[in-house]
Amino acid sequence: MGHWTVNQAGKSIVLIGMMGAGKSSVGRSLQRRTQFALLDTDEIVASKFGLSIPEIFSKYGEQVFREAETQALREMAPDKQTVVVTGGGIVLGEDNLDFLKRLGVVVWLDGKEETLFERAARSGNRPLLQRGNPREVFAQILQARLPLYAKVANIRVDTSVLTDEEVAVAILSKLGKLGRNWRPGSTIPATAR
Ligand code: S3P
Repeated sequence: MGHWTVNQAGKSIVLIGMMGAGKSSVGRSLQRRTQFALLDTDEIVASKFGLSIPEIFSKYGEQVFREAETQALREMAPDKQTVVVTGGGIVLGEDNLDFLKRLGVVVWLDGKEETLFERAARSGNRPLLQRGNPREVFAQILQARLPLYAKVANIRVDTSVLTDEEVAVAILSKLGKLGRNWRPGSTIPATAR
């Protein structure tokens, strides 16, 4: 992971990672545990259009969704303590990487490919998995994104064998090890990762 210094201003916990990593559920758990506000880029985009994510993809296409996703991220305020949940493709937009870092500590929810796929395929509301061979598509998407998740994340948690609650606890304990880690210029010690 390239970035060792936590963003100067950002006070948020930002969850990134592939579909099926559990970002939404872990986000809700973190919200309960921290009492921070919860913001979810997918929810913001869906409510802006008044449509579900699959409906936005089929009606307007992925590009329009990506632009709205970037806009949602850009409008988040770095000075608020928030749990930010993102869509799995958020790392595709180059500007998004800066917006993510600006918001706070970026936590990558990772896991075994097969486990992530099984979880992602279960819900049936992932438009990117509705074409071709979903398993192969998933593998391709994941391979393309791994370096991007790795590049932007401060912390990585392997969710494969953990419940969502356990992931939330793991994140908070890693952040606890950082002490008051969101102060300007502070550095994440290797032990926290
Ligand atoms: C996407 C992931 C979805 C949603 C959209 C695109 C992606 O969010 O933003 O379907 O490109 O990986 P989740 O990661 O919550 O499934």
